[in-house]
Amino acid sequence: MTLRRADFGEDFTWGVASAAFQIEGAWDVDGKRPSVWDEACRNGRVRDGLVCLDAIDAFHRSDEDLDLIAGLGVDANRFSINWPRVYGDGRGPWNEAGGAYYDRVIDGCLARGVEPWVTVHHWDLPLALQREGGWTRRGIVDDFAAFAEEVARRYGDRVKHWMVFNEPLSVVGHIAAGIHGRIGPHPMAALASLHHMNLACAEAGRRMHAVLGAEASIGTTNVFSLGAPFDATGSQRRMQRAIEALTVDAFLDPAAGRGYPFDDSPFLRPLRRYVRDGDLEAAAFDYDFMGVQYYGPFPTKKVPVLGGIPVPRLDTAEADVRSTTKIPVEPRGLIELFRRYRDHPACKRFVVTECGFGMNDRMVDGRVRDDLRIWYTRNHLEVVREAVAEGLPVDGYFQWSYADNIEWVFGRNGRYGLIYVDYDDDFRRTPKDSYRWYQQLLTDADGID
Ligand code: FCB
Repeated sequence: MTLRRADFGEDFTWGVASAAFQIEGAWDVDGKRPSVWDEACRNGRVRDGLVCLDAIDAFHRSDEDLDLIAGLGVDANRFSINWPRVYGDGRGPWNEAGGAYYDRVIDGCLARGVEPWVTVHHWDLPLALQREGGWTRRGIVDDFAAFAEEVARRYGDRVKHWMVFNEPLSVVGHIAAGIHGRIGPHPMAALASLHHMNLACAEAGRRMHAVLGAEASIGTTNVFSLGAPFDATGSQRRMQRAIEALTVDAFLDPAAGRGYPFDDSPFLRPLRRYVRDGDLEAAAFDYDFMGVQYYGPFPTKKVPVLGGIPVPRLDTAEADVRSTTKIPVEPRGLIELFRRYRDHPACKRFVVTECGFGMNDRMVDGRVRDDLRIWYTRNHLEVVREAVAEGLPVDGYFQWSYADNIEWVFGRNGRYGLIYVDYDDDFRRTPKDSYRWYQQLLTDADGID
């Protein structure tokens, strides 16, 4: 079936996504301070170790990368701000030299007709704040909000689309499992952090809104992995629901001022001890859109319990086709989640802020034939198109990622890019077949078969 850009409507935003730590490198340039992820590269928790500090050197290649991104025909480029690059060890002062990098990226996007969509925080917590307890310390709410407010002040004249946080659930998972340079494993540390991230997002949202005014669009992003099979009943469904309440509703309900879904999820109940008077209101924020990060569902069988909390996406999942990061492939999970959460008050509009496929691409004779990624993307986009046709409020799609990058603990091994990065040849960029595919979809009115 032909896929056409026009099928999704004129106001649909097409983009690519990335995150600071995963692409930038330049880990100690211009006064940048260390993050928890820099530390994880040093202490052996990231596969490939120290070389990952250089990521894909995007810091020094922004012109080349933005040319390639604009060449796709996208409307938008989603990227994140590296907290310790711009705000010292977490509490400022603003680092002018570090901050100028994002001026270059933002101006470079705009000069090429690409809208910058900025994620305020995508996991690169300043190491100094981690040493004070990271997200387990309630005072971090104010630290984060101050950082977010300053970011809005610096870039708000040019950036109109914001996402406060990338997947707080994943950070909860890292803490529960005691990986990624975090403390733990400790279930209480994970649950305390979950609550503090909710408070931090809402407080940051309010302060950003005060700086940016009503014109800016302020959203956030969350993991939306539902339990498969989607038609489960009985005890299987109850288990799915308990995990979904922990992984999705535990972020959406507080934002909507509803507090936590304790009745649905026993896993959440110990969190009660961290909730203080006034937190119900403090955790609420009216997001303009909800970013959906979707890679696949979690299978209800074999959900690992790490540090007392089920962490569905960190295990090897059962699936017919597997990505290098072991996430099962099930495009229909997208429409399922849109239907299920369309009436949730925290989800006025959905934007798919991440979707993509990780595999061990190889370049042969200068070409990367990543048919599997094209197959994955096409299948997911067909489901998004169906959702749009059904009248579900889905406004955009961002492919993860424009280029291969550091896939967190997997290091250089989880390649998700539309562009191949040759780590043995000075980070040379080569568009893969999927780049040409996405480009044709976005630039050819006849679409792609
Ligand atoms: C998401 C992360 C993103 C990337 C993809 C593959 O969970 O937000 O940074 O690593 O997974």
